[in-house]
Amino acid sequence: MLKLQNVSRSFGGLQALKDVTMSVPKNQIIGLIGPNGAGKTTLINDISGLDHPSSGSIRFNEVSIEQMPPHQIARLGIARTYQNIRLFSDMTVLENLVISQHRLGKSSILDALIFSARFRQEERALRENAVRWLNRFQLAGVIESRAGSLPYGDQRRLEMARALATQPSLLLLDEPAAGMNPVETRLLGEQILQLKREGMTTLVIEHDMSLIHQVCDAIYVLSFGEIIAFGTPEEIRNNPIVIEAYLGQEENGAA
Ligand SMILES: Nc1ncnc2c1ncn2[C@@H]1O[C@H](COP(=O)(O)OP(=O)(O)OP(=O)(O)O)[C@@H](O)[C@H]1O
Ligand SMILES: [Mg+2]
Repeated sequence: MLKLQNVSRSFGGLQALKDVTMSVPKNQIIGLIGPNGAGKTTLINDISGLDHPSSGSIRFNEVSIEQMPPHQIARLGIARTYQNIRLFSDMTVLENLVISQHRLGKSSILDALIFSARFRQEERALRENAVRWLNRFQLAGVIESRAGSLPYGDQRRLEMARALATQPSLLLLDEPAAGMNPVETRLLGEQILQLKREGMTTLVIEHDMSLIHQVCDAIYVLSFGEIIAFGTPEEIRNNPIVIEAYLGQEENGAA
């Protein structure tokens, strides 16, 4: 479904990604792990169009997307969450979901201005869809709360709900469990697995290995911009190259 071929990205003299080749097959959950600064977020930025590779190709359902802007990639069915939560913190929980769907909606600005039947009908459908996702992520009770006032775990779940409300076929998650307690993390894992049963394809970056082992079909390990290992959770757990990459980080005091 998603294929990266020799993707490289440099920022001045720093090579954040070096010849990354990987694929995310339909209806699988693929993990992307690696020490801090390995290039994981850069990779998701390049897939979602927030940033672009310096070279290499990214194909989504056989369409080249590596130079497309984010909104066009979103329309193709790719949605993401952010490591540093990006919500409209002064808007309500519900408004956050409705607005993200509007960006992909069919009504024009003119429709909105004259409050056309099409606009009203679309608005109603968007709200119903939003409420459905908020229910699934235990946010039904805070629909009218200001997003910025929510506890951290709720904000993370709101980001997930917002991404899903756009009805993507590929979900990119950048540290979805960061700041969650073990119980919340476990539940999040179950929700990611439930999405898979409903047909979702997911690429997940996470430092929490319990979540990675709970959900992933296969894992890529990135270190200094390069894929150094690929395998099942069991294979990765016992791979000496991977253990060394993480130990090296600790020795450098970067962990
Ligand atoms: N816009 C940018 N300009 C310059 N350097 C950047 C930029 N974005 C990322 N980098 C650098 O690229 C490298 C990879 O960063 P990235 O955020 O992708 O790492 P990461 O694997 O997501 O790390 P973490 O686990 O800490 O989130 C880092 O050295 C970072 O400083
Ligand atoms: Mg990151």
